[in-house]
Amino acid sequence: MRHLIDPMDLSVEELDEILALAQDIIKDKDKYAETCKRKKIATLFYEPSTRTRLSFESAMIELGGSVIGFSEASSSSVSKGESIEDTVRVVGCFADIIAMRHPNEGAPLLASMYSPVPIINAGDGGHNHPTQTLTDLLTILREKGRLSDMTIGFCGDLKFGRTVHSLVKAMSRYSGIKFVFISPKELKIPEYLLSEVVEPAGIPYEEVTSLEDAMPDLDMLYMTRVQRERFFNEADYVRLKDTYILDDKKLIPAKKDMVILHPLPRVNEISVTVDKDPRAAYFRQVLNGKYVRMALILKLLELM
Ligand code: CP
Repeated sequence: MRHLIDPMDLSVEELDEILALAQDIIKDKDKYAETCKRKKIATLFYEPSTRTRLSFESAMIELGGSVIGFSEASSSSVSKGESIEDTVRVVGCFADIIAMRHPNEGAPLLASMYSPVPIINAGDGGHNHPTQTLTDLLTILREKGRLSDMTIGFCGDLKFGRTVHSLVKAMSRYSGIKFVFISPKELKIPEYLLSEVVEPAGIPYEEVTSLEDAMPDLDMLYMTRVQRERFFNEADYVRLKDTYILDDKKLIPAKKDMVILHPLPRVNEISVTVDKDPRAAYFRQVLNGKYVRMALILKLLELM
């Protein structure tokens, strides 16, 4: 039985297979409409979500399966003190696969040690978000036609941004990649990612504070939200939240084929006027998330 806890749980070959399957699903949705008939996914969300939970649920429904679960722990027996271990043992009696989001780093990994069915990490604290990474990879592939040979700028909260951490790990396995980490000094990329992932892979990188200076070199700009829920101190959040606001003026020196991604939700960090720019791919990215989760469910259930 396979789980997906960390983006590195999948080899490059397995990633390629999932991305190829997602692209086939996009081409011929009817072919897959009954592949998960009588299968159930349980979405166990201990932390708020719009895209991830609903895309897992619509993915399973479009595969012909059905959905159970909870969108807040307070409506489950977690509120009576039930442990993660017991919760997944119980839910595994009802569902064929579980997608779990939890504020505690490592909670989905713990769940995978006790679950009788595959566990998908749908985001654990500031740690990892591997299905957002699959979403991002499919979007990069569809927008740029490749996953190699590009300069990628990550901008915003690089300290707590689990989508950034997961995508850095995944992109470090492709050739010709360069990273530009754009953040205030308080929200820099964690040192362990540089020393354990980026540097051993021989990837050139820069850490800078100016989005404007970095812009002309970028093939892809990955904007992120400064996450209020990860701060201990409201004053620090207020001071840092609007450090970067991408607007039409800042995009003037950008490459004409640069792609703008954002895992969403957005707060202020991308002006709504940018939405009309053809380089703004973040709503196309959301839709790709459903297709790639359809592919992942089929692979983990060993139906493809
Ligand atoms: N990108 C993402 O994880 O969005 P949600 O928090 O809405 O699921």
